[in-house]
Amino acid sequence: MTGRILGTGAYVPARIVENQELAKLVDTNDAWIRERTGIARRHVAEEETTSYMAAQAAREALCQAEISSEEVDLILVATSTPDTIFPCVACEVQKAIKAANSVGFDLNAACSGFLLAYQTAQAYIQAGLYKTILVIGSDSMSHVIDWTDRGTCILFGDGAGAVILRAEEGGLCFHAAHSDGAGGGVLTGRSRHRKDWEEPKHMEETFLHMDGQRVFKFAVRSVPEIVEELLKQAQMKQEEIDYFFLHQANKRIIEAAAKRIGAEISRFPMNLQEYGNTSAASIPILLDEWNRKGLLKRGNKLILAGFGAGLSWAGSLLEW
Ligand code: ACO
Repeated sequence: MTGRILGTGAYVPARIVENQELAKLVDTNDAWIRERTGIARRHVAEEETTSYMAAQAAREALCQAEISSEEVDLILVATSTPDTIFPCVACEVQKAIKAANSVGFDLNAACSGFLLAYQTAQAYIQAGLYKTILVIGSDSMSHVIDWTDRGTCILFGDGAGAVILRAEEGGLCFHAAHSDGAGGGVLTGRSRHRKDWEEPKHMEETFLHMDGQRVFKFAVRSVPEIVEELLKQAQMKQEEIDYFFLHQANKRIIEAAAKRIGAEISRFPMNLQEYGNTSAASIPILLDEWNRKGLLKRGNKLILAGFGAGLSWAGSLLEW
């Protein structure tokens, strides 16, 4: 049994922040951001919460899959920016969409989160535990960004994407995932409520910290490696893959990965120019965009690959 994607959905906040607007906050400019990242604008949550965006994406996916929320057995939400520590976002989504027959929990693997949630869902389906699973990636990165740090605040945006998986016979399904905790210091987001018991004091709000160049090198190395691992498992060649849906962090990372894989850049869908890096949401938002535009045909072979804090990186090869 494998989980086939029956429907997709996405939600991004209404508020759009252009590069020029960021130039009023930090010493940067539109040309630099476009050239170094490919990003032109991003959507930033005002009223919207991580669980609100997740529920909106879920509704769209259910509608497209033409199934009722009561048919959902499991809700998995990948997020590193939940509204509250508990209840988890998945339970908030369950309440919002009235998925009374489901169980739900969150999973945090930063920008690799959607892939790890997707793989967890596939494992449940293969084990015969659940038939219909809602997998969501939702993040409000604007809440954890230091808006005075020009090295990071230009990169991120907010949003959510969702897919509905339904157990079916057959279909391609290969997975690979890795973590390198020892390397995790290059990309961190510390808890805003961390207490120092030795010397109790009010902790200043802490934010996302990143060594951009080291993350860049890690991404450019890890994505081609995981693609090769998946192709080997599936005994396929890169030429047989129709599209590579990579985490939307930086245009230059995707271009460099495409070059190393030896595949034309046209097979690497991109929408980071519109949304920036939406962390766990980036891959399902992109999938939804391509799906709704009718650019994906049944039988297409896809590789999805995410990478990010942890360090962690994960990929799946599937048939649309
Ligand atoms: N505007 C203008 N100048 C800037 C800006 C900015 N926003 N940011 C940095 N600079 C300056 C630097 O200060 C530096 O100036 P200097 O030469 O005078 O010292 C110069 O530009 C070059 O800086 P670099 O850091 O070398 O720039 P680089 O080409 O590496 O680009 C970037 C930086 C875009 C952050 C890149 O390293 C990158 O994309 N890294 C990967 C980041 C990423 O993908 N993170 C997400 C991971 S996913 C997750 O889990 C969250």
